Amino acid sequence: MLRPRPVATETHEDFSEPILPGKGASDYERYLRTDELLALQKSPDERAHPDELLFQTVHQSSELWLKLGTSEVARATVHLRAGEHAAALRLLRRAALCLQFVTAQLDMLEQMSPWEYQTVRRVLGHGSGFDSPGFREVRRVTPPLGEAFDAAVGAAGLDVVEVYVHGREHEELYQLAEALVEWDERITMWRIRHYKVVARIIGDQVVGTQGTPVEVLGKMIHHNFFPALWRARNQLTARAKEEED
Ligand code: HEM
Repeated sequence: MLRPRPVATETHEDFSEPILPGKGASDYERYLRTDELLALQKSPDERAHPDELLFQTVHQSSELWLKLGTSEVARATVHLRAGEHAAALRLLRRAALCLQFVTAQLDMLEQMSPWEYQTVRRVLGHGSGFDSPGFREVRRVTPPLGEAFDAAVGAAGLDVVEVYVHGREHEELYQLAEALVEWDERITMWRIRHYKVVARIIGDQVVGTQGTPVEVLGKMIHHNFFPALWRARNQLTARAKEEED
């Protein structure tokens, strides 16, 4: 690989030498702790099947994106409580993007043969996505975000339906409402995609490594974290109809 030559400055500082503390040959490796990161996957001789690298890569990177996404949701909640709506919105946009990435990379799992995956499955023990720290964080940080939003709407003397009806006068609250719906919808989009991946690889009438029937995953698709925001759509449609009559 071509590497740009370090440019010597007047002080003759050698840019090729690391200056950060820690292990690793370069500052890149030290800062990103790549030695540790790249040792977190099974080595070729530890793998029951070569696809374990694919499987571990998708899961481990999902955990990282979820760590970032849920951290941004928690920070957005703090801003929302402080009335800093624009700052909250900026972070919620990032969080939604994290879920988009996690959903997109599920495609990679479908590159595995359903038969060969059975060899991977045998070495997972009772490992199950229900114990994913990333998704546990999603379940932990999402309700307080909803509560902070409800408080902001209440403080403006409105209800959710009014935020939509008078969206132009309450631009930030409207945008926040949509950012929450976006977060909720992206969780569901992940669940839908995950369900199809699971059905395609292990089937839709089997039981998972932790005993959950795959059918239960199908039912979880209907869960909403912010039901009032989804209900508001029905109320808006009913209201429009009333105004027509
Ligand atoms: C070959 C790929 C996969 C298969 C076959 C699979 C299978 C399953 C099954 C069967 C369940 C039900 C629980 C149980 O194990 O008994 C489940 C749940 C779950 N899985 Fe996966 N999974 C796969 C990939 C992933 C990935 C990449 C993630 C991302 C971290 C993930 C996260 C979850 C979560 C969070 C749940 C709990 C259900 C929910 O919150 O909607 N899974 N999975």
